[in-house]
Amino acid sequence: MMDQAESLRRLVSQGKKIKKSRVITVTGGKGGIGKTCISVNLSLSLKKLGYNVTIIDADLGFSNVEIELGVTSKYTLLDVLYNNKTITEVINEGPLGIKYISSGGDFNLIKEGVDLSLFLNNIKILDYYSDFIIVDTGAGLNEVVHNFLKAADEVLIIVTPEPTSIMDAYTLIKYSLMGENKKINVLINKAKSFEDYKKVYNRFEKVVQNYLGVFLIDLGYLEEDEKMMECIIEQNPIILKYGNSKTARRIMHIASQIANQPPPKENNGLWGIFSRLINRGGFK
Ligand SMILES: Nc1ncnc2c1ncn2[C@@H]1O[C@H](COP(=O)(O)OP(=O)(O)OP(=O)(O)O)[C@@H](O)[C@H]1O
Ligand SMILES: [Mg+2]
Repeated sequence: MMDQAESLRRLVSQGKKIKKSRVITVTGGKGGIGKTCISVNLSLSLKKLGYNVTIIDADLGFSNVEIELGVTSKYTLLDVLYNNKTITEVINEGPLGIKYISSGGDFNLIKEGVDLSLFLNNIKILDYYSDFIIVDTGAGLNEVVHNFLKAADEVLIIVTPEPTSIMDAYTLIKYSLMGENKKINVLINKAKSFEDYKKVYNRFEKVVQNYLGVFLIDLGYLEEDEKMMECIIEQNPIILKYGNSKTARRIMHIASQIANQPPPKENNGLWGIFSRLINRGGFK
């Protein structure tokens, strides 16, 4: 991978067009609804299906993904931006060969004088290596999450049957995902039953369509399952520990549904997202 990185770096710096990854930003507005759990297990499932997967933790401060995967990272994407690290130096190995990167902070506050084209070239290399990049966002609709969602092409919104979760997801679409041609997938988590899922999904879809005119993609549901909880406590994701359980099989099914969908119309990979983020911050 390291040797390849060098020749890729050369291609990229010559302005050659290279493959873009499909970036899926996992969000939901509310805390504790399963964003991290689902990001990690979906990443592992996509890997099992044969794709190269990178998971990025865009949560600030407390890194959820690290805890669940049991990996720790020495450097973050901010070190690529400010401290001359290359992308290969900030990539960590996770289970099954998935890659893990910590984002490290807010990219809308980029200091002047840094080499943004060098940074973006490093991001292109990451795009080249990954078929899918799964981005786990933190709780709440803070500026960092809001900006990231505005720049995203495709999102996965997690909703649970609690009324506050439905309201938060609605608010999130209204303030961060409107007006652009984004692909918005929805997954109902912690449903009590199929009927419970249908009820929650239909209610959510109706308000989103009626009041916001936004089209959603239904990715189905995951039931409330104590094995999902155990996974966090033992740092052993359900896909690895109980790969044959009903919930794990359902996650695998969701992963193949995602993989079989066409990518968003405008798919510029992680490079596209960071280019937009940086431009919004007012830098060229
Ligand atoms: N389907 C499920 N059934 C039962 N428990 C679940 C399910 N999905 C997630 N959980 C549990 O819910 C808790 C919160 O999950 P997780 O940390 O993934 O949420 P989060 O949205 O990432 O939270 P935060 O907003 O704090 O980042 C965890 O204890 C997890 O094990
Ligand atoms: Mg989390």
